Amino acid sequence: MPAPSAEALSYTQPLVTLIRNEMLEQGGWVPFSRYMELALYAPGLGYYAGELRKFGADGDFVTAPELSPLFSHCLARQCGELLERIDGGDILEVGAGSGVMAAGILAELARLERLPRRYLVLEVSASLRRRQSETLMTQVPELADRVTWLTRLPDTEFRGVVLANELLDAMPVHRVQVEPTGFAEHYVAWEQGRFVWRPGPLSSPDLAGVLQVYGTELTQGWPAGYVMEIGLAQTAWVRSIGERLAAGALVIVDYGFPRRELYHPQRTEGTLMCHYRHRAHADPLILTGLQDITAHVDFTAIAEAGMDVGLDVMGYTSQGSFLLGSGLMAELEAEGVDASPDYLSKANAVKRLTLPGEMGELFKVMALTRGVDGPLQGFTLQDRRGRL
Ligand SMILES: C[S@@+](CC[C@H](N)C(=O)[O-])C[C@H]1O[C@@H](n2cnc3c(N)ncnc32)[C@H](O)[C@@H]1O
Repeated sequence: MPAPSAEALSYTQPLVTLIRNEMLEQGGWVPFSRYMELALYAPGLGYYAGELRKFGADGDFVTAPELSPLFSHCLARQCGELLERIDGGDILEVGAGSGVMAAGILAELARLERLPRRYLVLEVSASLRRRQSETLMTQVPELADRVTWLTRLPDTEFRGVVLANELLDAMPVHRVQVEPTGFAEHYVAWEQGRFVWRPGPLSSPDLAGVLQVYGTELTQGWPAGYVMEIGLAQTAWVRSIGERLAAGALVIVDYGFPRRELYHPQRTEGTLMCHYRHRAHADPLILTGLQDITAHVDFTAIAEAGMDVGLDVMGYTSQGSFLLGSGLMAELEAEGVDASPDYLSKANAVKRLTLPGEMGELFKVMALTRGVDGPLQGFTLQDRRGRL
């Protein structure tokens, strides 16, 4: 992997010190979930809180809206349909990255004359809030005044559509290992100049409760040494959105599987994945604060969390079928099929977004709704709710 620059190292050293100080206060270690939280979100120093470039060709990874505006246009059309079903409302995008998705959605809804009342962005990173504002001023200056930034979820009830693209995979997860007599949690300690894994007791009763339920439900059994991640922060977040959602939908796009597939006995190493300068690897204990750390989403848990707070699971399908159901090909073809470099690059992005070997199958789309009559256009081609 490329060596970090001097600027990058100036972030990682104070972050490592901060994490080590917390370890000292906690008896020498912290649960991996806390390490991941600090590595990604420690104020001013964590990966998402710092100034380093993350998205796009000169960053660490590329997300679907970065790949092509057609992705955002499809989501916009789904938002338009949802807003119409509830007689209007706002859009709230959580974790808006570089801001390109917000720009693309606003542009498409303006073209369709279906703009939301307001476009709210909830972003924990101050540096990304600045970047999002710049993107909007550059790409859709006439619509930028509809956008308002929030630093926490609204206290009041919300009517409209909440969007989360690649948000849940970036939330801290607990990492657990199956032992002959139960479970051990993975903690992180500091030894001989580097972070190391250490097994320890489960750090929370909620985690123990979830593991007990999964162990009973997933009767296929896990071999000793099996490693899995549990996204307690993801399900808590879905419940907190659902509690505020008076009418409308939470639309989640992320990589993951139904529980039975995610915790399949053959997936023995879990799904932690790190991205650094377009290289993917599985060691979150290096390049602290300089790389993204992610885990796949358990979509069964997300559906259950939504239902806990009274939401309907209105749709669950692959990204490929969601985009095709939302008019992706029609939009590509409407611009004219030819052999120009512009068309070929758009067609290439469409392939990456939809083909099963690219993002089309690993990524899923879920709509959790309240007070919305179905069906929804993005989920008409393929309904996978039966697999949850
Ligand atoms: C992997 S990036 C995805 C960015 C963007 N949605 C995209 O697809 O390009 C994750 C984003 O979520 C933000 N984030 C993570 N946890 C958050 C939370 N609890 N509330 C709001 N934003 C959060 C990060 O700062 C970052 O912008």
